[in-house]
Amino acid sequence: MKMLVTGGCGFIGSHFIRIILRERPDWEVTNIDALTYAGNLTNTLDIQTHPKYRFVYGSITDKNLVDKLVENADVVVNFAAETHVDRSIVDNEPFILTNVLGVQRLIDACTKFKKRFHHVSTDEVFGSLAPEEPKFTEHTPYAPRNPYSATKAASDHLIRAAIHTHELQATISNCTNNYGPFLYPEKFLSISITNLLDGRPIHVHGDGRQVRDWIHVEDHGNGILHILERGQIGHTYMMGGDAEFSIEQTAKSLIKVMGHGDHMLEFIPDRPGQDRRYAIDFTKMKHELSWQHKYTFESGLQDMVDWYRKNEHWWRPIKQSSGYRRWYRQQYGEERAV
Ligand SMILES: NC(=O)c1ccc[n+]([C@@H]2O[C@H](COP(=O)([O-])OP(=O)(O)OC[C@H]3O[C@@H](n4cnc5c(N)ncnc54)[C@H](O)[C@@H]3O)[C@@H](O)[C@H]2O)c1
Repeated sequence: MKMLVTGGCGFIGSHFIRIILRERPDWEVTNIDALTYAGNLTNTLDIQTHPKYRFVYGSITDKNLVDKLVENADVVVNFAAETHVDRSIVDNEPFILTNVLGVQRLIDACTKFKKRFHHVSTDEVFGSLAPEEPKFTEHTPYAPRNPYSATKAASDHLIRAAIHTHELQATISNCTNNYGPFLYPEKFLSISITNLLDGRPIHVHGDGRQVRDWIHVEDHGNGILHILERGQIGHTYMMGGDAEFSIEQTAKSLIKVMGHGDHMLEFIPDRPGQDRRYAIDFTKMKHELSWQHKYTFESGLQDMVDWYRKNEHWWRPIKQSSGYRRWYRQQYGEERAV
């Protein structure tokens, strides 16, 4: 099996490649990544010389390169994306280029060369749930509410259209909030862990009652492998973590795991474009594909904290870079600058 992974130097893609090389030692993996601010070659440092692994620097918007790589692959798994809601509000262009045009390039190449395609999407395409509303399922209508989720919704629709129009051999997965090692320190848990390690507070936007369903990145990657091997062409699969907590509850669990007190919690004004609640019903994955979680939220959080404690050499240079510090000041104000 020759697999083309896109965006494999990012958070989830790098874990997925590691899972494939470990669990399917005969498979070959080519990773194309444009190395944006979120793509980091050190995320794949341990596999860079693996005989079954190859890295190609490039963008999924590059038609000729995509055609060449897809032609030589049996299956394409797309992780490449711009992924941060706040950044999409400041500048939507990279989101439209990669998440929409880039995905169309992959669709076109997979259609042309008749290749199996799996697209990694998000639960954010379904918008926001009220506290008592039922969880998102494969049948929930799309209702994106910020530029990031709108571009992800667009890519899902383009794939669904190609499945019908061109008989594209594709599946889609919509997953909830991932956490774990290598999470770029712009997301809530990785900022909070690295702040606490520096003796700085956790910033909670608004009232802290926004609810998220947390899934360990290894469980997500393992789910994608289940879909590739057992999923039905044309189907969508939902993946959740069975770990629905408010941001305030999540922050308090983290503070406890890291041995601090609740005084390390700092409430700050809310940001635009944020959804109230995400939650996923993953019955289909469980029953049809026998997918199970390896991690509970407690064991997963401990795993993540342990990794950040041991891997300061990975996150410290990111937090000290001028680009990151500028972004942090914009998000959290001059008074909280790192
Ligand atoms: N992080 C989450 O909680 C989460 C949850 C559900 C779904 N997803 C989806 O999973 C996928 C991966 O997310 P992530 O958190 O690993 O993202 P990430 O931001 O950590 O990584 C994205 C990767 O894509 C690369 N990339 C960006 N533009 C590219 C382009 N034009 N061509 C090639 N490579 C490009 C980046 O360099 C980076 O390595 C995304 O599609 C995202 O929407 C993420």
